[in-house]
Amino acid sequence: MCVCVCVCVHMCVCVSVLLEAPDDVLLQRFQGRQVDPLTGDIYHHTFIRPVDDIITDRLEEGRGLSEEQRLAKLQLFRREVTGLSSTYQHVLKVVNGDQPHADVYQQVLAFVQTRRRSRTPRILLLGPPGSGKSHQARLLSNKYKMVDVCCGRLLRSVAADGSAVAQQIQPYLENGRPVPDSLVLQVLQERLSQMDCSCRGWILHGFPSELQQAKNLQESQYQPNRVFFLDVTDEVCLERIGLRATDPISGQRFHAVTQPAPNSKVQDRLQTRPEDRTPTVEHSLEQYRNHSAALQSVYPDAVHIDADQDPHSVFESLESKLTTD
Ligand SMILES: *[C@@H]1O[C@H](CO)[C@@H](O)[C@H](O)[C@H]1NC(C)=O
Repeated sequence: MCVCVCVCVHMCVCVSVLLEAPDDVLLQRFQGRQVDPLTGDIYHHTFIRPVDDIITDRLEEGRGLSEEQRLAKLQLFRREVTGLSSTYQHVLKVVNGDQPHADVYQQVLAFVQTRRRSRTPRILLLGPPGSGKSHQARLLSNKYKMVDVCCGRLLRSVAADGSAVAQQIQPYLENGRPVPDSLVLQVLQERLSQMDCSCRGWILHGFPSELQQAKNLQESQYQPNRVFFLDVTDEVCLERIGLRATDPISGQRFHAVTQPAPNSKVQDRLQTRPEDRTPTVEHSLEQYRNHSAALQSVYPDAVHIDADQDPHSVFESLESKLTTD
């Protein structure tokens, strides 16, 4: 049905959007409905056409309801909508659904983004290599469903997707040179603007690592609203990274304490990645120390967490600071 109330649930109902359209428009839309038998996706032979001809060829006419059933459904909706609207009035936006679907999407997206900007968690984890950023991001994401955005991993996956941006990024990754800030920022903004991030919030780590990057992020639409420094000494970082290892076959990373290999076969073939070797880590630690004062100046309200504790205690400290406002 083209009239619907979409409620985005995340800890509480924060946004609801009502797509409204006159009955005659809705009844007319019912008639051209088509269904993709493979995916169950719904199309319409005039309003919503598949981009791919392969899909067009396999579409089936919607096994529609009879005229009477449609009217009954519509009447039921008209009866319920008043109650629903008043229940969600504090978070409700009514959008005219009788427009091209791209326009409807833009209006809903704009509403969701402004509405959620202040409430959606947009977390930034900063800390030296080995301070546990990836692990804490994974724990937060598992529990609170925010999107885990690891900058390095994101760049590697974008570099592999065959796009125009991928071709720009690849040479840097292959030569082990840093990807230019403007390119990183472009990739990040693209990722953070996606629906999962704007609806569920995100946890960013691996960027920014110096002043100019932090300033650029502050000037974008994607300022973090909760910033954490995971504080830990160089000695501890070096010791922890010494426990990291990578499976050369799957590319998966393991850690002797927080994420051990699943079996001895995998364990036996693990290798240390170039960036986890001691001289490289020492260099990154020095770089982090060189820039951390400048980063702190950009985020004066950041919370410092003692990360030289077991991962679960670090997680509890993070959590307690997340929910206090
Ligand atoms: C850190 O700063 C010092 C002093 O400015 C500089 O000599 C050194 O090269 C920097 N180290 C790194 C890794 O950027």
